[in-house]
Amino acid sequence: MSESQLWDDVDEYFSAHLSPEDDTLQAALRDSDAAELPHINVTPSQGKLLQLLAQIQGARNILEIGTLGGYSTIWLGRALPADGRLISLEYDPRNAEVATRNIARAGLDRIVEVRVGPALESLPKLADENPAPFDLVFIDADKANNPHYVDWALRLTSTGSLIIVDNVVRGGRVADPADTAADVRGTRAALELIGSHPRLSGTAIQTVGAKGYDGFALARVLA
Ligand code: SAH
Ligand code: DHB
Ligand code: MG
Repeated sequence: MSESQLWDDVDEYFSAHLSPEDDTLQAALRDSDAAELPHINVTPSQGKLLQLLAQIQGARNILEIGTLGGYSTIWLGRALPADGRLISLEYDPRNAEVATRNIARAGLDRIVEVRVGPALESLPKLADENPAPFDLVFIDADKANNPHYVDWALRLTSTGSLIIVDNVVRGGRVADPADTAADVRGTRAALELIGSHPRLSGTAIQTVGAKGYDGFALARVLA
């Protein structure tokens, strides 16, 4: 058996017992697939981790950058109280349309708002609205802009908030100084910003599973 088949099998075993998808989550992926969205959503195990982290935070306000079909959005939205709020930023209006339907089917349309446009245009507008600080920010969009997203996350959070950056391994390219691709440079810049910023304490974890070899970074906002 190949190593990645083993990772798949173990991930499937874990999620079957610990993070089974209900009909709503399955339908979200089915409709994302029908609309030909790429299969780059978080896995059920990762979605459940996001949900647990939001619950541990006691999150009332969540910001997501990169909605796709709203799959991670549903996992996160389910961690919120009825008067909670999740704003998710998505560049592609077709993805946002699929996500909006999936979110409505999940009964989360009163909590979740999908905002269409390049996140670097949506974020200053959001900041102008002076929103309550976000308790959790999930960064999962174009990797080249990751340092900008961490920067905006810092402006839109407060002490104790959690910032999560998805996909920080880039197949291992993140540690190859000769690799200067935009996604790798953006990911390195975000990690180095987290590591050096006086208001952040963070770590990064490599993972294997249904999405292969990957990883995420976690950072807590300090005073
Ligand atoms: N969080 C989703 C996956 C997101 S995939 C999940 O796990 O279910 C990354 C998404 O970011 C894609 O939908 C892509 O269209 C979006 N994206 C890419 N560049 C963007 C940008 N500049 N602003 C906002 N969204 C962007
Ligand atoms: C890609 C983006 C993601 O958010 C992800 O989880 C996996 C892959 C990508 O752009 O390739
Ligand atoms: Mg991702």
